[in-house]
Amino acid sequence: MLPYYIQKLQVKNFRNLEEQIIEFSPSINCIFGENGNGKTNILEAIYYLIKRKSFRKNTSFPQILGIDGERPEISFQSLFINSESSEPIPFSGKWDQAGTHWFVDNKSTNRKLQVGVVFINPFDAQGFHLSASSRRTWIDDHLGQLDSNYKKALGRFTKSLRFRNKLLSTKPANYRKQIRAIDEEMSELSINLTFSRQKFLEELRPLVKKSFYDLFSEEHDLEIVLDTKISGMTKESYLEMCQKNLPKDEIIGHTHYGIHKDDYVLLFDGLNSFDYCSLGQQKMSYLSLLFAYIELFRYKFNSFPIVLLDDVSGELDKLRWQNLVAYLNERKFQVLITTANDSFKEVLDTLEGANKLMVSSGSIAKM
Ligand SMILES: Nc1ncnc2c1ncn2[C@@H]1O[C@H](COP(=O)(O)OP(=O)(O)O)[C@@H](O)[C@H]1O
Ligand SMILES: [Mg+2]
Repeated sequence: MLPYYIQKLQVKNFRNLEEQIIEFSPSINCIFGENGNGKTNILEAIYYLIKRKSFRKNTSFPQILGIDGERPEISFQSLFINSESSEPIPFSGKWDQAGTHWFVDNKSTNRKLQVGVVFINPFDAQGFHLSASSRRTWIDDHLGQLDSNYKKALGRFTKSLRFRNKLLSTKPANYRKQIRAIDEEMSELSINLTFSRQKFLEELRPLVKKSFYDLFSEEHDLEIVLDTKISGMTKESYLEMCQKNLPKDEIIGHTHYGIHKDDYVLLFDGLNSFDYCSLGQQKMSYLSLLFAYIELFRYKFNSFPIVLLDDVSGELDKLRWQNLVAYLNERKFQVLITTANDSFKEVLDTLEGANKLMVSSGSIAKM
């Protein structure tokens, strides 16, 4: 990952955004505007440009294509600056019914930009506390961004799991033999993936506690732990367990045992934060986790990701807003923070050096 920030963006037919050049500062960018005017759409366009996927659900081409688009094509033009070389890199893309095409310096490319990005929306903190699958996705996405081998191994695991489930539900001739072969592969992957997850959580541990303190000036023991059925297992014992659980899998028609069922617990002073914490504390814990991750990202790549914070003010009181804003003001990463909340806007308005944009019906004005 390279130390890039986005300097300019122009999109065409991307949701309700107007075709105009939006300029960003390398540090804090505040995006104001009432509900439904296009704040999240700006973050989504940047995220899409970097990740080639959206953070929203159901985002096929027709859903993102601007309703008024006379030509059915979405386009992206952008300039990224590498803070080490200060040479801007033009990065652009086109997206139509047939698919996407990307260009670096006007040359066609298949490679993604080596830029990290993190995103948080108003529901993420609650989703993280409410659902195991959100926690798994959070860890997989964030760890995957740090470790491409993890991402590849997870891809193979997911593919094998899908195939295994298909065999279990359709039971073609000789399916047990095929499952046995899949289990061999999945056992090895499971041990490796679990090892990577544990290592990731260990690396996060000191940083989470520190970021909670840096953010909110409160000392709490905050830690995220992996709740796995397979701790201490070897590849062989894992394989044995898969085979032992096969009769039940055959009855229910899918794989009920394995690391895809593992979970994570956020412990706040040793207690499960979902049971114990107020919504505000859950949000604070979640933000601390996110900022700990950003620090870890920096250790790994010696650069920061671009940080997209969408409407994060909910559940936090004014003192926490001030803490959060002061924290962001001291960091060296590029952050885009949106809000429709007038009181939170007042706190952000105190940031003198920040770039402030106002979005109204997809049109962006510098304030
Ligand atoms: N494909 C599309 N074409 C045009 N407008 C769209 C499209 N998809 C969503 N929108 C509009 O985008 C607006 C929502 O933008 P959003 O960025 O989520 O608002 P907010 O400022 O509240 O974050 C809505 O008014 C919606 O109608
Ligand atoms: Mg929004």
